[in-house]
Amino acid sequence: MPDPKRVAILISGRGSNMRALVEQASGYEVVLVASNRPQAPGLNHARAAGIPTWTSNSKGVPREEFEAELGRALRDHRVGTVALAGYMRLLSAAFVEQWRGRMLNIHPSLLPRNPGLETHARAIAAGDSVAGCSVHIVTEEVDSGQVLAQAEVAIEPSDDAATLEARVLEAEHTLYPAALAEFVKR
Ligand code: GRF
Repeated sequence: MPDPKRVAILISGRGSNMRALVEQASGYEVVLVASNRPQAPGLNHARAAGIPTWTSNSKGVPREEFEAELGRALRDHRVGTVALAGYMRLLSAAFVEQWRGRMLNIHPSLLPRNPGLETHARAIAAGDSVAGCSVHIVTEEVDSGQVLAQAEVAIEPSDDAATLEARVLEAEHTLYPAALAEFVKR
């Protein structure tokens, strides 16, 4: 079994969480940044940081085919833990099974509240006074695995989805590296 401290980060876009995980890496090593979108802006940061990257455009590619390729890349880099960070492609049950207990995600809500998309707008619409973010184990069902760590962020009366999102994102950047460092100690 590969060393859990050897971490791959999967991204599809901006990659600000990936950057936080790289910059605050402690007790784990980011050995690969992989993306299903070759133009994901976050890849530039990974390259500049000297981290090996792997990309393959998943668009129009059958899920099993894409995931077989991704799985090979993860094995080639002897990855022990996978951290999803804004990875926007649904994973098959088979892939999730292969990585059961070894794959984490960050979600911008206090799970189990507001899984899925548009979380900030929904929290505001519901009249919540507190929002936040959660790091959880990835299971077949989206945003529903065991929660490992959470950070709360107060919702101000003046907040709209964009201002709340920005503050929650800041909290994500502290929570995720700390939760991952804790996770790989097990
Ligand atoms: C973050 O809000 C994360 O919680 C969610 O997708 C967003 C990704 O942002 N899963 P970034 O690519 O890490 O900047």
